[in-house]
Amino acid sequence: AQKIGILTAGGDCPGLNAAIRGVGKTAIVEYGMEVLGFNAGYLGLINNDYTELKESQLSGILTLGGTILGTSREKPYKMVKKNGKTDTHKPEKIKKNYKKLGLDCIVCIGGNGTMKTASMLAKEGLNVIGIPKTIDNDVWGTDVTFGFDSAVQIATDAIDRLHTTANSHQRVMIIEIMGHHAGWLALYSGVAGGGDIILLPEIPYNIRSVCKKIENRYEDNKPYSIVVVAEGIDHPKNQTAASHLSEAIQTYTGIETRETVLGYIQRGGSPTPMDRILATRYGAHAAQCIAESNFGTMVAMKNNELTTVSLEEVGSNLRLVQPEHPLITKARKMGVSFGDEYQ
Ligand code: F6P
Repeated sequence: AQKIGILTAGGDCPGLNAAIRGVGKTAIVEYGMEVLGFNAGYLGLINNDYTELKESQLSGILTLGGTILGTSREKPYKMVKKNGKTDTHKPEKIKKNYKKLGLDCIVCIGGNGTMKTASMLAKEGLNVIGIPKTIDNDVWGTDVTFGFDSAVQIATDAIDRLHTTANSHQRVMIIEIMGHHAGWLALYSGVAGGGDIILLPEIPYNIRSVCKKIENRYEDNKPYSIVVVAEGIDHPKNQTAASHLSEAIQTYTGIETRETVLGYIQRGGSPTPMDRILATRYGAHAAQCIAESNFGTMVAMKNNELTTVSLEEVGSNLRLVQPEHPLITKARKMGVSFGDEYQ
């Protein structure tokens, strides 16, 4: 029987267990494979730290948040120089363990960093398949990553709650949303939550436009405003994006301002039904790719169709929001500000 490994690496997100279950169950039930789960991302591969996953262990985890395998941000190919030479002992250990265990494939579930490492391992001759996950939705080569829908739901719920308290106190409420260098999560939750101003890393903003929008609303008898800001916007590094904006808005408009940094709540808890389905489909498809020897690839969704892209193409490319994204264009026509209307 074929023997495969599964690992989850990088920041966690809802749906990881659904994906592990999707790969594992399909591999065992449909293809009779043996499945090993490596602990704590690439650390598990380096240290030969794994447990065999039987089908019974994959039951009851579909709805669980986090990852039963644990995760880490370990990057085995990170350039470390030792005595003037690049230290390659971690990739060497991985290759040795892969051979020693007689693995036929390793399934790497993760975001951009994870796919980059996966593509390097594939280049070294290991059979690797990637599954894209992240709340940031910024993995190149796929239209969507699992974890994103759950995070949009959590962030939207938070924005909904800020509306009522902002209204009661007639305040400007700023909410900072995760997403690293990408604005997907802020854009989707901002539109879903009816944000008045949405600031994304991909669209350079200026404080004048932000304040003008708030003042115009005030004059239109809308004495409160909701500002949804992505953590990755340009801001001084000794402050959060939210506190930087909060100070500036209060100074220039004189309107009382409060800030909320939503943080890790966006990554926790049970996945939404959409994420459960997406993670399950990705997982099952990864197992099928192994059976078909379709290695060196990442499973992906393009135009609502399951497909694969080469890991080499994914590399460490980021999929960012295009400033002329249709959702942005439509939102602008409804009066939503993206902070760039005035110079
Ligand atoms: O990639 C997911 C994410 O939550 C980003 O949105 C955020 O910038 C980053 O991870 C936080 O990283 P860490 O888990 O290392 O604090």
